[in-house]
Amino acid sequence: MSIDHVLVAGAGLMGHGIAQVHAAAGKRVTLYEPELARAEAGMVRILGNLDRSVAKGRLTDDARAEIARRIAATDDLGAAASADLVVEAVFEDEAVKSALWSALDAIAPASAIFASNTSSISIDRLAAATSEARRPQFVGMHFFSPVPVMPLVELIRGAATSDATEAAIRALAAQLGKQVIVSADRPGFIVNRVLMPLLAEAMRAYEEGTGTADDIDTGAKVGLNHPMGPLELADFIGLDVCLGILKVLHEGLGGPQFEPPTVLVELVGAGHLGQKTGRGFHTYPR
Ligand code: CAA
Repeated sequence: MSIDHVLVAGAGLMGHGIAQVHAAAGKRVTLYEPELARAEAGMVRILGNLDRSVAKGRLTDDARAEIARRIAATDDLGAAASADLVVEAVFEDEAVKSALWSALDAIAPASAIFASNTSSISIDRLAAATSEARRPQFVGMHFFSPVPVMPLVELIRGAATSDATEAAIRALAAQLGKQVIVSADRPGFIVNRVLMPLLAEAMRAYEEGTGTADDIDTGAKVGLNHPMGPLELADFIGLDVCLGILKVLHEGLGGPQFEPPTVLVELVGAGHLGQKTGRGFHTYPR
């Protein structure tokens, strides 16, 4: 099937980037948030990204205008009525996501593919919020932040996901310039299952006083050639998001490596969520 119109639900850190890469690949994109101001804020972030690309000489003014023209911000979920694909990138909360999918199921065409950008919640549990007829078209499509830069998509097949849906998402990912890996519907899928124990262990080393936040991060950057240190990366992802993923991993798989560190629980409880609030393991701007 051809995917021409994409509705992206959620215009935050992931959603605005997902909208941008689809528009850059020539798709018509609707960026939805229940509050119009939030959808428009996502649009402002996209325009900022495009402006940076123009300033670096990677995008012409005309191409920038063309990409921006393809994206419409809305607070009307009714826009899903003409969507070929819906990508959901709302807050990592099963009840919130399920309620949205249920509403979308009643609006979107029967042929539309439903893709969740969940970073850890079971695809089968989310698909259960839709009708049985939809479930072969329900799939996980997990992007990585910053979406315009990171070239991976993790494709998660649920029990009912059809081969045709996997093929359509693979073809789309190729158009977006993304490489696909396929994960079974297991807690945390592949990448977060591997990543989160590293971040959690760095947090435990920090809380035990093994090293300062700067030295722990420098250790990973200079000693392991990681682009960001683990505490800096946790701040970048969002400490609330990291905590949510660790909880899903710990509940689903057990194991002390997934237990949320006390310092993480305390920072989130105090509202220090990382880069987005200006404070986490580090303070921002750095
Ligand atoms: N949005 C869009 N583009 C961005 C960006 C952003 N937030 N941040 C940086 N970029 C772009 C820059 O514009 C620059 O583009 P050009 O090459 O066209 O000039 C490019 O990225 C490199 O940026 P910088 O030179 O400014 O900075 P850098 O070399 O330090 O790289 C980084 C920045 C790409 C973010 C790098 O630090 C990195 O790769 N960090 C690790 C990111 C990572 O691990 N992401 C996955 C997180 S896990 C996840 O997302 C999934 C989950 O479920 C939790």
